[in-house]
Amino acid sequence: MMKKEEYRQLAKAAIEARRFSYTPYSHFKVGAALLDSQGRIYTGCNIENAAFSPTICAERTAFSKAVSEGSRDFVAIAVAGGLEGAGLPLEECTPCGVCRQVMMEFCRPDSFQIILARSESEYRVCSLSELLPAGFGPGNLISGEN
Ligand code: THU
Repeated sequence: MMKKEEYRQLAKAAIEARRFSYTPYSHFKVGAALLDSQGRIYTGCNIENAAFSPTICAERTAFSKAVSEGSRDFVAIAVAGGLEGAGLPLEECTPCGVCRQVMMEFCRPDSFQIILARSESEYRVCSLSELLPAGFGPGNLISGEN
């Protein structure tokens, strides 16, 4: 169980990471902060591209940083997003389907927590299984027979 202070700290880190988001096309700035079981926090922002499809979301930036540094056991991620210039509290920003699928690869759906942060103190917490019911994951590839 995470404490209120930990939610607050993760929400704050996501809001701060938003500052670095590179969004000349959508002007929609997103920050994420991913907490692992060692207490490390990996931040990320969305990084857009003139060719559009190479754009990466804030959540996947954070996962890529973590996994490429040897971290794979995750507890929670905070996400904060909104149009450039939007003040706090932001509107709730939910992870896209691709990011939910990436979470499914590394996180336990029932216990991994997604903190939808509108400000440091205003947030809603849900589990990955709530945002991606009946998700397909690594477990589906382990066959019981044959
Ligand atoms: N985006 C994120 O980074 N995370 C989300 O949870 C939703 C969408 C980004 C992708 C794109 O750069 C911009 O927001 C608009 O879709």
